[in-house]
Amino acid sequence: LISVPPVQLAEKYFQMYPEEANPVWGNPCDDMRHEKIWSRNKTCEQLPRFLVIGPQKTGTTALYTFLSMHPEVSSNFPSQDTFEEIQFFNGKNYYRGLDWYMSFFPTPTNSTSRYLFEKSATYFDGDLVPRRAHALLPHAKLVTILISPARRAYSWYQHMRAHGDEIALNYSFHQVITATDTAPKTLRELRNRCLNPGKYSQHLERWLSYYPPQQLLIVDGEQLRNNPIGVMNELQRFLKLTPPFDYSKHLRYDSKKGFYCQVVSSDHTKCLGRSKGRQYPPMEERSYKLLQRYYLSHNTALLKLFKRLGNHVVPQWLKEDLSAL
Ligand code: A3P
Repeated sequence: LISVPPVQLAEKYFQMYPEEANPVWGNPCDDMRHEKIWSRNKTCEQLPRFLVIGPQKTGTTALYTFLSMHPEVSSNFPSQDTFEEIQFFNGKNYYRGLDWYMSFFPTPTNSTSRYLFEKSATYFDGDLVPRRAHALLPHAKLVTILISPARRAYSWYQHMRAHGDEIALNYSFHQVITATDTAPKTLRELRNRCLNPGKYSQHLERWLSYYPPQQLLIVDGEQLRNNPIGVMNELQRFLKLTPPFDYSKHLRYDSKKGFYCQVVSSDHTKCLGRSKGRQYPPMEERSYKLLQRYYLSHNTALLKLFKRLGNHVVPQWLKEDLSAL
């Protein structure tokens, strides 16, 4: 038996097991040995109990804002890089480690909230996210929000235009979604960001290969927009948030904004910023038809998934997307 100094040993090890060079942070409280050697100042209570996983442009900010109104619920402190989102499980932030992630959450002694959560809308379609999230937060509940994938794609395109993206400004939505694989890279990238997150069933199946279905709630984004009080009540039941918060007293439709907003006083509401609920022309009919066809197999699989999960109320947008082909 021979050995070598630690650095060489590590190099040898990762040559033999290259797949292990990428860390996967586990939950220290799931293993007594880890918990015992962990600093006494640290506690798993400082980890989120639920995650709002996206996808982008489905109403995630409204859901995040409404949840944060609940006195027993707290989200993470804002991140300097990504505004309110931490985006830990999907990108390079993951390599910053567990302490970095936990530093975004209040310690239990400094907080009266019993339910910590975070919302990062890019988690939904990140390849590695379900595996990583499950390794650290196996008991967390997951909340996803879905709208018509065609409308989500259009909203994303409008979002990129509003942010001054050259490609979105120079190409019509129809040109973006019909771009072929020979198109310039930047156009293909925008096309992919418009289209790929909307393959809902594929992404959900990946989450469900790690988490049991009882831990997942699929919120209908159209319902969140039109009947947020009903949706928030269902969400509170799913998350077992007690005592229940009476959203009917705290949310009111604002006809100027055209959305539900937070009640501030009898004649004042606080709505989401101008970047949420933007004004733009409706999608061209030919683009919608094309996307209906494009998403047909994905939406059919989603319908099956709904049935398998026992969600008997099929969203109206899904029925419409699957109809009139
Ligand atoms: P549009 O701006 O395209 O209308 P996200 O927060 O995930 O980026 O989603 C943004 C979308 O949330 C908006 O897209 C808007 O349609 C929707 N939304 C739902 N409820 C809303 C609310 N109460 N206020 C503002 N936007 C809301």
